[in-house]
Amino acid sequence: MTTKPSSAPWADEPFHLITTPSTYLMDSHSYVHISSEMAHAHNVLIRGLNSILQQAPYVPTSTEKNYNAQDVKDLLFYVKSWTKTTSHHHWLEESFIFPEIEKFSGKPGLLDGPKNQHELFHGGIERLLAYASTTTPEEYRWEGVGGMKEIIDSFSKHLTDHLYAEIDVCLGMKALDSAGLKKTWDQAEKVAQQSGNLGLLYDIFPCVLGTADKTYEGGNPFPPFPWFIPYLVKYWFAAGNGCWRFNPCDWWGKPQPLAFIPQKL
Ligand SMILES: [Fe+2]
Repeated sequence: MTTKPSSAPWADEPFHLITTPSTYLMDSHSYVHISSEMAHAHNVLIRGLNSILQQAPYVPTSTEKNYNAQDVKDLLFYVKSWTKTTSHHHWLEESFIFPEIEKFSGKPGLLDGPKNQHELFHGGIERLLAYASTTTPEEYRWEGVGGMKEIIDSFSKHLTDHLYAEIDVCLGMKALDSAGLKKTWDQAEKVAQQSGNLGLLYDIFPCVLGTADKTYEGGNPFPPFPWFIPYLVKYWFAAGNGCWRFNPCDWWGKPQPLAFIPQKL
């Protein structure tokens, strides 16, 4: 269950969040752990997308009253960071996690379904990244032909359908050996973590920290970052960047009201 910080719309809609499998499956098999970790990661992406969809309509464009170029600049940087976070998640899966699980299972093509779904929204995410990277605050539009909403609408259903469907694929891993699956997952995660670089601390880390609701469904420890990372991000890597006002949670995973939404709707 989501703990909304106020009665105003929040990042748990329009696209619904995923119920974490560990909250309803009482099974010690590692497929529950894997599908729950995946659900947490997917909910991070869904909350980020919802935050954009909820708040962008309230950021005035250059032809509107109360236009503030800095707010638009911050929105575009937030969108850019979310696209990078989303692409990074799928790149990690395709590069490190899926190949290892397929090898372990002895079933080549086991994860072809999710890989093929990636293709359905990859182009849209790239278009959104290009728009957020090259559009000036004066040129920026939310509504209408060529606006940012149109780009997001072109892929958001494919993306969220995929984020929901992949949990079912993980739940299907019950057929594999539990200990072997856990070992494969842990090793692939370790290799994936080692592929990170300092640059991620400026965009992907703040995006993940600010969209991971640690109070969700009674509490969870996702993301499993070392304790000092929120401090490092808050006081150094994210400091002075107004784009993080669009995050639905604070640096410690506590839901906060969406900054650009009127709270008395
Ligand atoms: Fe995934």
